[in-house]
Amino acid sequence: MPINENFLLCPDMDSLPRIDPPLRIGVMASGNGSNFEALVESTLSSSLNAKVELLVVNNECCFAIDRAKRLGIKYLLHDHRDYVSRHELDKALIQSFKEFEIECIVMAGWMRVVTPTLINSFNNRIINIHPSILPSFPGLNAIDKALAFGVKVTGCTVHIVSAEVDSGPILAQAVVPIFEHDNKQSLRRRIQEQEHKILPIGVAVAAERWRLEDLSRDNMC
Ligand code: GRF
Repeated sequence: MPINENFLLCPDMDSLPRIDPPLRIGVMASGNGSNFEALVESTLSSSLNAKVELLVVNNECCFAIDRAKRLGIKYLLHDHRDYVSRHELDKALIQSFKEFEIECIVMAGWMRVVTPTLINSFNNRIINIHPSILPSFPGLNAIDKALAFGVKVTGCTVHIVSAEVDSGPILAQAVVPIFEHDNKQSLRRRIQEQEHKILPIGVAVAAERWRLEDLSRDNMC
């Protein structure tokens, strides 16, 4: 895999085949939503042949909602506190995404663990972005952990979601150096700059595989 001068460990978007037909994406977010917006922007600029059809949030105060309103993307609230279990929440998510004919879900800062019910129902076509170079520092507080450990580089990873948290097949990564003067805010800012670049690329890498899978399945029928 090429490493370019920005330390992106993934192909250039231009080198990937155009997704055909366009991918119908649903996004799940719990907070700020900057990755959600970066993904939408990449679809609007046509660098990613996809459409973000729906945003689902689990928190009515999250800023991702403001972004969705500004970008003209439909959004739904599924507050996890309204469901008796993760399983029940995931069943409701499945119903909403199926209504919007979503093919692929992107977890862009979704701060809940998803169940195999959701993963299986989307045929493993769920993508997550995580602020470390996996498999280092999975789980919560990855940036704090990198600073506390004293590593000299960290970064971010786009990967397919599997039942174990932050552990599925890797689609794209970017490396971010840690400087002496870094604190959590400065490091997070630089990691997020890279996240916004590699999230659309990771989606395109996965979509290329899925379109080939779909083609070979159609040919077998
Ligand atoms: C990102 O750092 C992502 O890696 C993690 O949650 C954060 C979400 O940020 N999973 P934002 O809400 O997209 O700004």
